[in-house]
Amino acid sequence: MNKLIHIIAGARPNFMKIAPLIQEFQKENIEYKLIHTGQHYDYNMSKIFFENLGIPEPNIYLNVGSASHAIQTAKIMIEFEKVLLNEKPRLVIVVGDVNSTLACALVAKKRFIKVAHVEAGLRSFDMSMPEEINRLLTDQIADFLFITEKSAEINLKREGISSEKIYFVGNIMIDTLIMNLKKAKTLNSLKKFNLKKSKYALITLHRPSNVDIKENFEKIIKIINYLQEKIQIFFPIHPRTQKNLVKFKLNKKLQNKNICLSEPIGYLDFLNLMSNSRFILTDSGGIQEEASYLKIPVLTLRKNTERPITVDIGTNTVIGNNFYKAKACIDDILSNNYKESKKIEKWDGNTAKRIVAIIKERILSD
Ligand code: UD1
Repeated sequence: MNKLIHIIAGARPNFMKIAPLIQEFQKENIEYKLIHTGQHYDYNMSKIFFENLGIPEPNIYLNVGSASHAIQTAKIMIEFEKVLLNEKPRLVIVVGDVNSTLACALVAKKRFIKVAHVEAGLRSFDMSMPEEINRLLTDQIADFLFITEKSAEINLKREGISSEKIYFVGNIMIDTLIMNLKKAKTLNSLKKFNLKKSKYALITLHRPSNVDIKENFEKIIKIINYLQEKIQIFFPIHPRTQKNLVKFKLNKKLQNKNICLSEPIGYLDFLNLMSNSRFILTDSGGIQEEASYLKIPVLTLRKNTERPITVDIGTNTVIGNNFYKAKACIDDILSNNYKESKKIEKWDGNTAKRIVAIIKERILSD
């Protein structure tokens, strides 16, 4: 009987979550196909991650590209359904919370194929985030919900998900980090970008709520300009952010004193720069977790986080776009008065192994 598994990836934050799963599938001789939806397609938003992480070429590329939410989600659904008309995998695995995650889960489920969601149950309780909608709906239809932290279980149970479907397996992205840290540290990333260990802050910014609304983007630029007075900044710019910086003419407000701007960079360079930075200012979800693991302070430019463990015992503080909160935290970090972090349960490099053991037992055993 067919034991094929489909693994779905589409956008930058998905790639580090599928890499350890694929490695484990290869080790265990599990038959799989990798489907890349093409939600992200630029070299430095997609292919560089495949090269850095040794992910094999996708078996199927859906080539959907950028568009509005409705068009992008619909295109992924149409193209993935065509794939499922030709083959019937036993399981479709989706990761994270991007449009590809929800689109493929929905198509699979309606064709009576079981769905596993890796990184289930995280909730920001902020329905203005497209990712929150993707997470909620994917979890409602998934058959296997693999969670990274205990708060996710509480969220899922509150939403009526049976505890039998929930598996606390840890954080698969941390598997990738652990696997690649040594290699990343051998790179000359500091020299390449003219930076000195612990003498710079790293910034990433791409949330629509921060960069699609001019007033909000301006508030963050004020924080960045303050930061430049204190420490050098390295800021690889996401395409959405770059477009809006120009559209709102905010590139003129961003001072050019002590900041190095770059194109988006690959996984290994970024890991090197995270681990060598004094601290990180970000609106990413994953970076809150990676920084917490690395014990690097991280200030999150959002009103909330769906990853509360990073605040409770990690290195994260949620500061929104509030200048005074940002200033207080930046001053604390630079005067070595910032909180200490603790080890997080099951963020240990063995998450993919745990997931694959469950899949073997629950899906592939007959
Ligand atoms: C998407 C995800 C978000 C994730 C982020 C990481 C959704 C709803 N959003 O947001 O959860 O945190 O990826 O980057 O799934 N673009 C390029 N090259 C590319 C891809 C995009 O230039 O390879 C440009 C496009 O013009 C597009 C814009 O960037 O309009 C935004 O891309 P999009 O995929 O719509 O959303 P992200 O902001 O990247």
